[in-house]
Amino acid sequence: MVPEIGFGLWRNTDRAECINSIKTALVAGYRHFDTAQVYGNEAYVGEALTAAAGARPELFITTKIANANQDWDDLIPSFDQSLQNLQVDYVDLLLLHFPVTETRRPAWRRMEEVYKSGRAKAIGVSNYTIRHLEELLAECIIKPAVNQVELHVFLQQPELVKFCQARDIIVEAYSPLAHGQGLDNPILAKIAAKHHKNPAQIMIRWCIEMGAVPLPKSTHPGRIKSNLDVYDFQFDSEDLADLKSLDQNFRTCWDPTHVA
Ligand code: A2P
Repeated sequence: MVPEIGFGLWRNTDRAECINSIKTALVAGYRHFDTAQVYGNEAYVGEALTAAAGARPELFITTKIANANQDWDDLIPSFDQSLQNLQVDYVDLLLLHFPVTETRRPAWRRMEEVYKSGRAKAIGVSNYTIRHLEELLAECIIKPAVNQVELHVFLQQPELVKFCQARDIIVEAYSPLAHGQGLDNPILAKIAAKHHKNPAQIMIRWCIEMGAVPLPKSTHPGRIKSNLDVYDFQFDSEDLADLKSLDQNFRTCWDPTHVA
């Protein structure tokens, strides 16, 4: 079971800042930590979480195989290195970071091997479109448990979310705050004021409302805490209509739409 909100670790690359933010997140109540080989911070995540080793059974740790490590001979050694960096003997979730045209299909076979070895309790993908998922679902032995994609009020991707949910693929939302762009949107401000929350909390709660798992990133203690504090209000139908109107297919990250 994936915890409802995860702590996103992209662009958290300064050792001291990363370790401190994870300590703050643990105290705030986060148990789900989302890193990746390309984030360059697996070792810091390992260091911070090992210091909290008593909490390991409760922790949910995700990492992702970098594009450069998708090759048949590279995927498993790179995963071994990730486990070493993270100072663990398994991860809760291992994702293929991107649907790289040349390598993604054999790479999934390797992902299945890792899953069967028990060193990843679940496997999934990231940045897959419906087309990439259809290809994978037609070929796989082990179904992806998760598709982690950019998802926020400004990039709602309703067809993709529906496709995944109809197939029991959990949608995880990276950049749920659109990297902070749009937090000054007046509609968000109006809804936030109505519920005595801030715009970031509205964006995070919207993801949960859509059935997705948001992975907000912050290195600021106050924001780390407030980004979890999203359960003491309910959207009404007017809020939901207003939030729906914010969709503008606005991407801040990788666009996999045209990847063959
Ligand atoms: P910071 O780390 O300085 O708090 P995303 O998760 O969509 O990638 O967004 C991360 C960006 O949003 C970071 O720049 C982060 O900055 C900022 N951020 C995170 N939480 C909040 C918040 N509650 N209010 C405003 N900005 C936030």
